Amino acid sequence: MGEYRTWGGRFEGSLDPMISRFTSSLPFDRRLVRADILGSIAHAMMLGRCGIIGEEEAEALVSGLWTLLEDVEEGRIVVEGAEDIHTFVEGVLRERLGDIAGKLHTARSRNDQVATDLRLYLREEIAAIVKLLLDLEETFLHMAEENFDVIVPGYTHLQRAQPVLLAHHLHAYVEMLNRDIDRLKDCYRRTNVLPLGSGALAGTSFPVDRELIKELLGFEGISANSMDAASDRDFVVEFLAAAALVMVHLSRWAEEVVAWSSQEFGFFRLDDRVCTGSSIMPQKKNPDAAELIRAKAGRVVGALSAMLMVLKGLPLSYHRDLQEDKEVLFDAVETLKACLEAARRVCEGITVDRARIEASLRGGYMTATEVADYLTRKGVPFRIAHEVVGRMVRYAEERGKELWELGLEEYREFSPLFEADVISLATPWGTVQSKRSPGGTAPSRVKEALQEAWRKVEKDRAWLASRPKIKLRSGI
Ligand code: ARG
Repeated sequence: MGEYRTWGGRFEGSLDPMISRFTSSLPFDRRLVRADILGSIAHAMMLGRCGIIGEEEAEALVSGLWTLLEDVEEGRIVVEGAEDIHTFVEGVLRERLGDIAGKLHTARSRNDQVATDLRLYLREEIAAIVKLLLDLEETFLHMAEENFDVIVPGYTHLQRAQPVLLAHHLHAYVEMLNRDIDRLKDCYRRTNVLPLGSGALAGTSFPVDRELIKELLGFEGISANSMDAASDRDFVVEFLAAAALVMVHLSRWAEEVVAWSSQEFGFFRLDDRVCTGSSIMPQKKNPDAAELIRAKAGRVVGALSAMLMVLKGLPLSYHRDLQEDKEVLFDAVETLKACLEAARRVCEGITVDRARIEASLRGGYMTATEVADYLTRKGVPFRIAHEVVGRMVRYAEERGKELWELGLEEYREFSPLFEADVISLATPWGTVQSKRSPGGTAPSRVKEALQEAWRKVEKDRAWLASRPKIKLRSGI
């Protein structure tokens, strides 16, 4: 268990060392040290202002806590030797300040304390993740703009279907990331609620000022039920669900990077900086970073399912089961951050092979729908137009020609309704330009969509900057 203890009065024997290791959370909740100390500073300030402890006592606690934070962050003290992070902080304080340190835990429990720590920690991580998402989004947007004139095959069933702008394809991922950001911002609102002041489960008989702590720590609300507050981990589930979906989106992108950089597709060439080699095959250059992003989605999805299982059937209120929220959460946060960073670097390391992409626009007859639509606009029922163009595709295929390489006379053999303008429409560029429905791939639509995406990036960056600040130094 280590040297620091916060309990023991009613115990006779000492704890079995194996059980001590088994129940200890310090090896992982040390990550909460900053949150724990900041929360304690706010709590001590409140205790002093409300006259629950003496003003001078509060000041001693607060300055002792600031010093401890600096010592920890500058590596002057190692976080070890206690059951958990809360016990560690209080233990060091007792060593340094003496018995007065024992006043810090007045009117609070580790139950409302750990819930507060976790929310403080997670809200900062959510902000960091939103920032990484925005950086990745910008990379996609730049790539879309730099390659705005590139047309790629759009796929369904992984078969060439209809031509689209590469920018349109990339904007699809921007949309996914945008929804991810909105989900995280929404989750942030419910995360940023203060549980401290709930005590172990029933509230406290001391005249605490929870609003003051809320303001000091930059929370946006206080919890309304002490039992719920001590045992609520919905915000962790919500975060993990949002994180799992980000990872699913990244894994879809990663899979396309793997496929599109293969010799079979050849649409992308990857920079050496984001690839690794083979220990046996000298010629190999593998997209390992993208593959790992694809695989790591599973870890985060697993974390979500583990957390849901911790909560399922858990009676009110705090139970030690809740300690199991941390490792999965920390792992998901770190995995997601690393994958977002790696995805951006992989994306920046892509060279678009325009020649290979252009070659892929032949042979798939991807403009056939547009030719059928042409006849349909002239009054032919779509089903019949579909049949006619199907026969044209077979005709062209037998002659090794594209639809836009047939002459007008050949078109007219299939329908007298065809005029000269059908030929340019049958080219990939003509087809792309004609898809002007809102949200379609016509360049004018895609341009609008990219502009809208940039506006949203600005708005989300402003949201990041507008988050309530911690006011422990400035005071309120
Ligand atoms: N390590 C514990 C956790 O993560 C801290 C709270 C302990 N509370 C208690 N009553 N044992 O949940």
